[in-house]
Amino acid sequence: MPENETMTANFLHRADGSAVSPAPVNDRVVSLTAPGSVAAEQYRSLYYRLERLRDQRPMRLVAFTSALSGEGKTVTAVNLALTSARANPDRRILLIDADLRRGQVAELLAFRARPGLSELLQGDADLREVVRRFKANRLAVIPSGQAPEEPTQLLASPRMKELLRAVREGFDEVYLDLPPALPFADASILGTLSDAVVLVVRANATAGKHVHQALEHLAGSSVVGCVLNGAAAASTPYLRAYER
Ligand SMILES: Nc1ncnc2c1ncn2[C@@H]1O[C@H](COP(=O)(O)OP(=O)(O)O)[C@@H](O)[C@H]1O
Ligand SMILES: [Mg+2]
Repeated sequence: MPENETMTANFLHRADGSAVSPAPVNDRVVSLTAPGSVAAEQYRSLYYRLERLRDQRPMRLVAFTSALSGEGKTVTAVNLALTSARANPDRRILLIDADLRRGQVAELLAFRARPGLSELLQGDADLREVVRRFKANRLAVIPSGQAPEEPTQLLASPRMKELLRAVREGFDEVYLDLPPALPFADASILGTLSDAVVLVVRANATAGKHVHQALEHLAGSSVVGCVLNGAAAASTPYLRAYER
């Protein structure tokens, strides 16, 4: 890892300016901690594929979901947003943790978790209070906040629609980290409000029938593709020779 990358990673625990968390950014955030790795290269690949799709039609709001939990939605959304922010210092990029049940973005990035989307949608905080910013690369992040009693109702509320309208105006790219599609209605609701949905599938874990069911739940959303998360490095042998 080049020296300046190491420094970036070391400074991250203070990236949102709060300087309260002693925790470093999670190791899975390879786009920051190991930008020369095979894994980080995969996120760059994914990012450029999305860019090619953007050549064909506008895709300002891109949402990530999966059939069930633990498949890698959050890790993928965080790394993709960071990859894009790194590639486009001039674009205004926002990552929203819309998993109000089990939001993990703040933890991965070692940001203060509250107030976040939940407080914003309940009228207990305004937009300025809930947006954290990386000093390193200007990515803006809205954490999920405290888990509310009725997450689906909040996400389906007019306030959420209003927020999405506002962030469409205020940002060039918005990434939404959603809950899993099978157990809850949240992903299908927010999927239809997004320009594109990416379905994360955990290699050697997600059952094929669950992928099909998730796609059925997402009917009405524009599912642009799948990310196979956690595939063995042996399945990308052409990259191994370049590993740093
Ligand atoms: N490619 C991967 N290799 C190893 N561990 C991973 C990988 N992707 C995700 N994980 C781990 O699996 C767990 C679930 O990932 P996460 O992104 O939180 O899933 P989801 O958001 O779909 O629930 C986390 O502990 C994460 O660090
Ligand atoms: Mg998650």
